[in-house]
Amino acid sequence: MLSRTLLGFVASIFLVGVAAAQSVTATVAPVLDDNLPAEAAPSGKPMTVEDVKVGTTLENLMAAFNGESNANAKYLLYAEKAQAEGYGDVASLFRAAAKAEEVHAANHAEVIRRLGGKPEAKIEKVQPRTTAENLKDAIEGESYERDLMYPAFMKVARADRQRDAMRTINYAQVAEAGHAKMYAEAAEDLVRMTDSTGQVYYVCPTCGYTVTEAEYATFTKCPVCFTSAKTFEKVS
Ligand SMILES: [Fe+2]
Ligand SMILES: [Fe+2]
Repeated sequence: MLSRTLLGFVASIFLVGVAAAQSVTATVAPVLDDNLPAEAAPSGKPMTVEDVKVGTTLENLMAAFNGESNANAKYLLYAEKAQAEGYGDVASLFRAAAKAEEVHAANHAEVIRRLGGKPEAKIEKVQPRTTAENLKDAIEGESYERDLMYPAFMKVARADRQRDAMRTINYAQVAEAGHAKMYAEAAEDLVRMTDSTGQVYYVCPTCGYTVTEAEYATFTKCPVCFTSAKTFEKVS
């Protein structure tokens, strides 16, 4: 079990490393706020990590806190919409991801306070569209965070030797990669998603790592932060 845990940890570090090193082809606006719909960069060229507008580590965490708080609120609305459209499993996934974003926001807030700041979020009004469109929007938001925003913020935190900031950024980035993957799988299989299977998810209360029931059964400690699997929150 130890080796599997270690493997998971190495894999998570690798994930972050890959995401940070990637020259990404996503096309999104170069702004601090995350979870925005993808738009072409002003130059028309695909954005890279270098194009992300960054501030100090404190400013970056404030922006990330705002993004995570908005993602939480948005995914809860998307979950309601998915439920209303008969996509029970997709609704569960949105609720699980919303829980994870709540964990990330709380982690960011703690470091913000430690750095002398005050976490504040401006929750944008969101009008949910169809579940297919909402999934597309969610994939874009998560991909932006995974490939561009968090890698850019990590570079600053690392240069500043802000270990607490690096940890909370790492936790969020790894979880967002998982969310993007699960949303993409749901989007691909949406036609069959109306047959709800009663899918449940588990969310790490420390880092927000989000897994299916099948994956949850494979570990006793969070593969990312080593928190006991027993403390994971079950979301349905
Ligand atoms: Fe996420
Ligand atoms: Fe964790």
